[in-house]
Amino acid sequence: MQEQWEQVAHTPDATDDLGERLGQVLRPGDVVLLSGPVGVGKTHFAKAVARGLGVRSEVTSPTFTIVGEYEGRISFVHMDLYRLYQDPDDVAAQLSDDILIGIGFDDYFDGSRAVLIEWPQGVRQCLDGYLDISMQPLATGERVLQVKAVGASARERMKEWVGGWA
Ligand SMILES: Nc1ncnc2c1ncn2[C@@H]1O[C@H](COP(=O)(O)OP(=O)(O)OP(=O)(O)O)[C@@H](O)[C@H]1O
Ligand SMILES: [Mg+2]
Repeated sequence: MQEQWEQVAHTPDATDDLGERLGQVLRPGDVVLLSGPVGVGKTHFAKAVARGLGVRSEVTSPTFTIVGEYEGRISFVHMDLYRLYQDPDDVAAQLSDDILIGIGFDDYFDGSRAVLIEWPQGVRQCLDGYLDISMQPLATGERVLQVKAVGASARERMKEWVGGWA
C-alpha cells in the first residue's frame, strides 16, 4: 500500500482542493500533522480541510489560543503549537508533559475528533498514527506537499484521499 505521496500545489486554489478532499475523507480519530515554514500555507490548508469536513463557521488561526474546535460532519480540532516552543525552527524540540497538560492535549485524542496540528514537531513522538504532511515553498513560489502515512489507519486514509490523483 502506498505510504508516501507528493504533489505540487501551483496556486492557493490547488492547496484548497487538496485540503477539501482530505476533509471529505477524514474520520474520527484521524490525526494530521502539518509542518513547514512560517507563511507557507499551513493555515490556508487547514481551513480547506475544515470546509471539506463541513465546518461552516470561520476557522481562525489558533496562534493565540493554541487550540480551536469546530463542528462539521465530525468534530474538527485545529492546533497551532508555534507559541509553545522556545525555538520553533528546532525540528528536534520536544514539548514537556507540563506544557501538554496545560493545553489539555490528550483530551483531544479520544477517538471522537479529527485533529490537525500545525508546528507538530514537539508532539510527533507522543502520537501513534498520523498523516505527516510537509509543506515547502519552491523557488517559483509554488508549494510542494510531501505526505507520509504512519500507521495502518493513516495509510488507508491516504489511499482514500489521494486515490483520485494519478
Ligand atoms: N500554493 C499555495 N498554497 C497555499 N497558500 C499559498 C500558496 N501560494 C501562496 N499562498 C499564500 O501563502 C499564505 C499562507 O499563509 P498561512 O497563514 O496559511 O501560512 P502558515 O503556514 O499557516 O503560517 P504560520 O506558520 O505563520 O502559521 C496565504 O496568504 C496564501 O494565500
Ligand atoms: Mg498558520
